[in-house]
Amino acid sequence: MTAPNALEVTNLVVNYGIVPAVQDISFTVRKGAITTIVGSNGSGKTTTMKALTGLLAAQSGKIVMNGQDITGLPTDVLVKRGLVLVPEGRRLFKGMTVAENLQMGAFQRRDASEVAHDLERVLTYFPALRAKMRTRAANLSGGQQQMVAVARALMAAPKVLLLDEPTIGLAPAVVDTIAEIIQTIGRNGVDVLLVEQNAEIAFEISEDAYIFERGELVMRGTAREMMNSPEVQRAYLGI
Ligand SMILES: Nc1ncnc2c1ncn2[C@@H]1O[C@H](COP(=O)(O)OP(=O)(O)O)[C@@H](O)[C@H]1O
Ligand SMILES: [Mg+2]
Repeated sequence: MTAPNALEVTNLVVNYGIVPAVQDISFTVRKGAITTIVGSNGSGKTTTMKALTGLLAAQSGKIVMNGQDITGLPTDVLVKRGLVLVPEGRRLFKGMTVAENLQMGAFQRRDASEVAHDLERVLTYFPALRAKMRTRAANLSGGQQQMVAVARALMAAPKVLLLDEPTIGLAPAVVDTIAEIIQTIGRNGVDVLLVEQNAEIAFEISEDAYIFERGELVMRGTAREMMNSPEVQRAYLGI
């Protein structure tokens, strides 16, 4: 038998009151691969991420992680099981230091020595943060804040990491740094679902890709197929 997928989402429906936001969407995040969901503003990406992580209740649909049905489980349970979100807009504790933000990522863990070990490991991804551990998050650059958001999520020891528009608002050089870090995280055994409006960077670092439009899944394929599709090039890559 082949290993189960990291995530298997089937017929997900999420509404805000009577407003449909995610309409019958199904997708897969394979183990060992980076998967991306690309879509413009309002296409249902964040709503999907919130439904996956228990921050929003879905109307219907099934979510299976590594072979286990996790549909409807609360966020704290999902984090313990290894499903962790880097939220849109980073959502740092701005008044806290970098070190305190990273500790918050590990707040559900009781294995102090493992956490200390993980902090060292996480900081190897983000050498720039080492000198900033006692700096308040509010005083960091946008790129550094995004690094803290990713590092905080890693402190929860994720098996599956969801990232909601991690590159938005960042300078091109910083976008490249974040993209490289995401790839390294993927290579180190964390399964990654990356949500992006920046289709170029998303396809560049992903294996599998999905495109959402107005709450519907309109295209699926390999990232390479997406990059080579004239339709996608016109609509998302400005070619
Ligand atoms: N809290 C909310 N209440 C009502 N409608 C919302 C809310 N959040 C998002 N929406 C709507 O749901 C749709 C999908 O939004 P969202 O998932 O945030 O898209 P994306 O992350 O792709 O930009 C949009 O039409 C948006 O206006
Ligand atoms: Mg969003």
